[in-house]
Amino acid sequence: METALDTAGFAALSAQDRGFARALVMVALRRLGQIDRLLAARLEREPPEPVRMILRLGVAQLFWLDTPAYAAVDSSVALAGAIRETRGFKALVNAVLRRIGRDGPPANDPATLAPGWLYARWRAAYGESEAKALASVIAEEPATDLTPRDSADAAALAEALEATVLQGGSLRRAERGRIEAWPGFAEGRWWVQDAAAAIPARLVEAKSGETVLDLCAAPGGKALQLAAAGASVTAVDRSAPRLKRLAETLERTGLSAETIAADAEKWPNRRLFDAVLLDAPCTATGTFRRNPDVLWTLRPGDIVKLAATQSRLMDAAAARVKPGGRLVYCVCSLEPEEGEAQAAAFLKRHDAFAADPIREGEGGAPAAGVTRDGWLRLLPHHLSGGMDGFFVARFGRRRD
Ligand SMILES: C[S@@+](CC[C@H](N)C(=O)[O-])C[C@H]1O[C@@H](n2cnc3c(N)ncnc32)[C@H](O)[C@@H]1O
Repeated sequence: METALDTAGFAALSAQDRGFARALVMVALRRLGQIDRLLAARLEREPPEPVRMILRLGVAQLFWLDTPAYAAVDSSVALAGAIRETRGFKALVNAVLRRIGRDGPPANDPATLAPGWLYARWRAAYGESEAKALASVIAEEPATDLTPRDSADAAALAEALEATVLQGGSLRRAERGRIEAWPGFAEGRWWVQDAAAAIPARLVEAKSGETVLDLCAAPGGKALQLAAAGASVTAVDRSAPRLKRLAETLERTGLSAETIAADAEKWPNRRLFDAVLLDAPCTATGTFRRNPDVLWTLRPGDIVKLAATQSRLMDAAAARVKPGGRLVYCVCSLEPEEGEAQAAAFLKRHDAFAADPIREGEGGAPAAGVTRDGWLRLLPHHLSGGMDGFFVARFGRRRD
């Protein structure tokens, strides 16, 4: 989606049209499950892909943007007429959208906001009412969360930004958009980071002067938190362009960290660290508020592949922890194979490590997220206004 919004055609639009185009795409993605159900009931056979896209945008305008029904239909028909491939389907677009408009909006069932197979997994993992509550967040437009560089600056920043201070110290601002112009940006007093994403680094409990390895570090929100806590941070990531973003934010905030572009599994350096944070690559299903397309591009096989990568990265991370040190593992995924199952399998593979249970409220974690095993299972509805879904586990390495 970001690629589509990065084209010359998009850039050539007026600021107002760009805003509308972005809102239209986001609503169509947030409501895709409901939109495709409505279309399935009204389409006798599958139309070419571009026709389906025009219909999806048309339905999104009919029910979830302030577009009058006639304008939603007329602009969709005009769009179909303007594209060679869809020209022959103008009458179909007109008939289907008029019919759906007459039928009215779909029933408000959160289960229909997610792909059926993913919703079934969430129901199996968390139960029906939790699955419904978490899926209902898919439809919601998220606020912007910020992490202050200095926690003592949170109240002043909240006032300047008209933001609220959340449990744990993140700031939440209803606005989105050109953050570079917001108070405190140029002075590096904060960076953008979802409230849930800010919790794992707090659970490292990094102390001034400690060495901390952030093993999948870019673009770097967690590395910045660790550096701000006074730790000596080594940030490894295999993506040099993503690490460049970390370097830029380090410069803006005046924080420092050693940045290393390397594959965490093969990094030849043998140093050991007081603490290691592994924010592993994952399906990112927990980030559906900002990236609703992740739900629709994911395939079941991806979960299996990423889970295998996560196990290998956990082993690589464990090898870097000093005796007596700690390891925090996290993923922004809602899938138990990437969370609870990884933590349990890790303990079976590594006698030298024991679970270091996360306590209620620690790091700003909502009480609802703490599991019986002492892991943190954050679901998007655990915070009013929503938060990313995350799994966090903390382990301690025994002293030799
Ligand atoms: C979930 S993101 C990390 C986000 C980051 N911790 C933050 O707070 O901004 C996962 C990162 O893992 C990196 N990655 C994936 N496989 C890797 C590997 N084998 N070695 C090092 N980095 C890897 C990706 O480039 C990506 O930046």
